[in-house]
Amino acid sequence: SSSLPVFSQEEVTKHRSLEDGIWVTYKGGVYDITEFVAMHPGGDKIMLAAGGALEPFWALYAVHNQEHVLEILSDYKVGEL
Ligand code: HEM
Repeated sequence: SSSLPVFSQEEVTKHRSLEDGIWVTYKGGVYDITEFVAMHPGGDKIMLAAGGALEPFWALYAVHNQEHVLEILSDYKVGEL
C-alpha cells in the first residue's frame, strides 16, 4: 500500500540529465537519483541507466547485489511504474 504517484515509462524517459533530473526504474519502482549520481562509487557509468531500468546494468555489475545498495536506492524512491 504505497501513497507514491504512478509514472509512465514515457515520463521516466524524460528524466536523463542533471537539468531535467535523473530517474531510473527498478522492480516497478521509480527513483529520482539526481542527488546521488555525483556520489556514485562507480562514477559516470550510472548515467547509462538514466531514464530507464537498472536491471540490465546491475546484472552485469554484481557489486550492486547487496542489501546496502538497495538501502541507498530506497532513499530516492519517488513513485511506482
Ligand atoms: C559500485 C550504487 C547504478 C556501475 C557501486 C557501489 C554502490 C553503487 C553503493 C559500491 C558498492 C560496494 O563496493 O559495496 C549504485 C546505485 C545505482 C547504481 C544506487 C543506481 C541508482 C549503476 C549503474 C552502473 C553502475 C547503472 C553501470 C552501468 C558500478 C560499478 C561499480 C559500482 C562499475 C564498481 C566501482 C568500483 O568498485 O570500482 N554502485 N549504482 N552502477 N557501480 Fe553502481
